[in-house]
Amino acid sequence: MTFYVTTPIFYVNAAPHLGHAYTTIAADVMARHMRARGEDVFFLTGTDEHGEPVVQAAEREGLTPRELGDRNAPRFKALLEPLLVSNDFFIRTSDPEHESKVQEILQRVHDNGHVYKGLYEGWYCPRCADFKTESEIGPDNTCPIHHIPLTREHEENWFFALSSFQEPLERLFAERPDFVRPQVRANEAKAFIGQGLRDVSLTRANLKWGVPVPWDADQVFYVWFDALLNYVTALSYARPGEDLTSTFWPASYQLIGKDIIKFHAVYWPALLIAAGYEVPERLFVHGYLLMQGEKMSKSLGNVLDPFQVIEQFSADALRFYCFREVSFGQDGSISPAGFETRYETELANEYGNLASRTLSMIARYRDGVVPDVALDETLGHDFFDLPDRVAELIDGAELTQALDVIWERVRRLNRYVEERAPWQLARDERRAGDLDVTLRSLAEGLRAVTVLLAAYLPATAEKLLAALGERGTGYALARYGARDGGTAVTKVDQLFPKRD
Ligand code: MSP
Repeated sequence: MTFYVTTPIFYVNAAPHLGHAYTTIAADVMARHMRARGEDVFFLTGTDEHGEPVVQAAEREGLTPRELGDRNAPRFKALLEPLLVSNDFFIRTSDPEHESKVQEILQRVHDNGHVYKGLYEGWYCPRCADFKTESEIGPDNTCPIHHIPLTREHEENWFFALSSFQEPLERLFAERPDFVRPQVRANEAKAFIGQGLRDVSLTRANLKWGVPVPWDADQVFYVWFDALLNYVTALSYARPGEDLTSTFWPASYQLIGKDIIKFHAVYWPALLIAAGYEVPERLFVHGYLLMQGEKMSKSLGNVLDPFQVIEQFSADALRFYCFREVSFGQDGSISPAGFETRYETELANEYGNLASRTLSMIARYRDGVVPDVALDETLGHDFFDLPDRVAELIDGAELTQALDVIWERVRRLNRYVEERAPWQLARDERRAGDLDVTLRSLAEGLRAVTVLLAAYLPATAEKLLAALGERGTGYALARYGARDGGTAVTKVDQLFPKRD
């Protein structure tokens, strides 16, 4: 089975902040989890380099848009490794292969009869690169997202006949209730469609920075159409000499923030149908990371630098925090103090201590070998459906709930240590058998949760699984009882050291 997951491609108008990292980490958790389940995974992320958002930022900096892209795209790319993101490809919309594929596909849309010349007259937000409909205009003709005045546009463009997809889109949403999740976001898209779709500019006349329109040398494609197509163009050139489109398209999951629903849930499926492609299987819309109650964004100046957070707390801690603190799908506030608390109480005290206690007790009481005895079935009862439950939640992109059910088991193991008090059993020769069972059960439970946590905490899991004598990370190892006893284990250094 194949699994294709994407993030939005990020504008190169500024350096990445934690809000961008958020979607990318989410996609990475899904990609890692699916790889462990044996799926053939392709994971795409990248940068959006055309359109006004980039042109205007470049002007402000006294650079050409290409220079700005060449400066900022590497900053987005450079974030991936420290974040432990396992993407298979990084697309830049300035890649010549992307540009020629966009031209080929949009020429087909044109030839299929979905494009005509017309006059656009209306309001436009240059930060969103969005032609606003009546219902999307804020007070005094401002952008409700960026709070800047909208510009009045009047230009001759080639139009995409979006209105002719009214019925196919209504059918798509009716037939596939899971196409857009969570439900509230599907409702938003349906409401937009329900107002009646209007045709939309496919090209721009007053902009030079974009993919040239093959049938009209005076125009470039409107940035959103060029950008959306990245999800399919990348597959045609990500692996030199190979075209992955038939293997991975339609995408299994496209993750986006709630700011770009209209483009992904309305324009995108219509464009795909017009071009003769299947629509993605699912679109998951997450909420905003908020700082001091506002969306974290460069223009509001309330951003956290992910590089700094990684340096301070580690990539694993950041990845964990994002999904533990904020319910994936909803808006939620984050703060440096919140990081601190979760790091100490959950990662260091609950998980880190569980790991170091378990391994050091096996070292001390059983010379570092997991006793080869039967498992404690009572504990097993709390673990038996765990891998299936987590898989089911991740299948629904419920990344916070999946982490919650794993964490309940981390806590269960800590209670088990307290209940069994191995240090007391160790004092009584007659209880040696009980101590054996306790230690083996703890080692099994610890491995099971660690295999499941590997998608969230890849560096920690790698270290801990090695200490548990485990070489694989395959999903079968998430089952309590998957391994016999007799394995040699080693102690670990503190997984989450105290910070100053
Ligand atoms: N370039 C377009 C997307 C084109 S996709 C074909 C764009 N880029 S963006 O740089 O503005 O990034 C948007 C995405 O970044 C959001 O959809 C979301 O995934 C992520 N986020 C940016 N700020 C965020 C928060 N404060 N919180 C959560 N996600 C955020 O729009």
